[in-house]
Amino acid sequence: MNIILFGPPGAGKGTQAEILSKDLSIPTISTGAIIRGAVKEGTPMGLSAKKYMDGGALVPDEVVIGIIKERLAKDDCKNGFILDGFPRTVPQAEALDAMGVKIDVVVSLEVPDEAIVDRMSGRRVCKVCGATFHTIYNPSAKGEKCDVCDADLLIRDDDKPEVVLNRLVTYHKETEPLKEYYCGKGILKSVEGTNGVEATTELMKAALGI
Ligand code: AP5
Repeated sequence: MNIILFGPPGAGKGTQAEILSKDLSIPTISTGAIIRGAVKEGTPMGLSAKKYMDGGALVPDEVVIGIIKERLAKDDCKNGFILDGFPRTVPQAEALDAMGVKIDVVVSLEVPDEAIVDRMSGRRVCKVCGATFHTIYNPSAKGEKCDVCDADLLIRDDDKPEVVLNRLVTYHKETEPLKEYYCGKGILKSVEGTNGVEATTELMKAALGI
């Protein structure tokens, strides 16, 4: 199954993608995680992408389309994949179509802006393995350490309140129009994302028919 997980920043796409990836034994591909990896390594792409991310803007289409083209060509995508955070603009969706990639379902996680601001303020991310937690809604069993690999947990640079507000503006202006794009193709399913992590997983599975 080729799945797109769609939704505003902090809707829970990454959290759900990890769970579904294990259940379906297919990889999850997060453009945000790939770009953060490049920033950490200090590659030319990472250095140029950082300024967009830090301001809450989107990285240029040609950069992310190149990343996805390369990643989807790998063998582990042959039996399906979950795209988390791509496409994010209509030109990105058109590029995916032009690559001949068939998407089976687009799941849109619906979370209002007020809840997003609250979620982002409590998000903690492992500095080594990237596992995501929330101080209240999804805490690590080891407090300020990662319960997967024991490394320190950090606050993402783009989770500062003023950047979160910019990311929401960017989402509504540039990404939300994609709902119409995929609704027109008859593959968009909306899922309420305001419940807890487990309840949301159940709703997602029902939407996916698994
Ligand atoms: P990216 O990393 O994709 O960020 P995002 O879409 O803004 O999504 P997030 O990772 O912030 O949130 P999420 O929906 O995965 O939520 P999570 O599961 O972590 O992109 C970052 C940046 O990279 C972009 O701003 C852009 O600059 C660039 N970029 C990436 N892709 C791009 C593209 N295609 N084109 C151009 N630029 C691109 O959950 C959030 C928090 O809530 C966590 O603390 C979690 O524990 C908690 N939580 C999760 N689910 C629940 C729940 N059901 N109830 C309560 N809490 C929950």
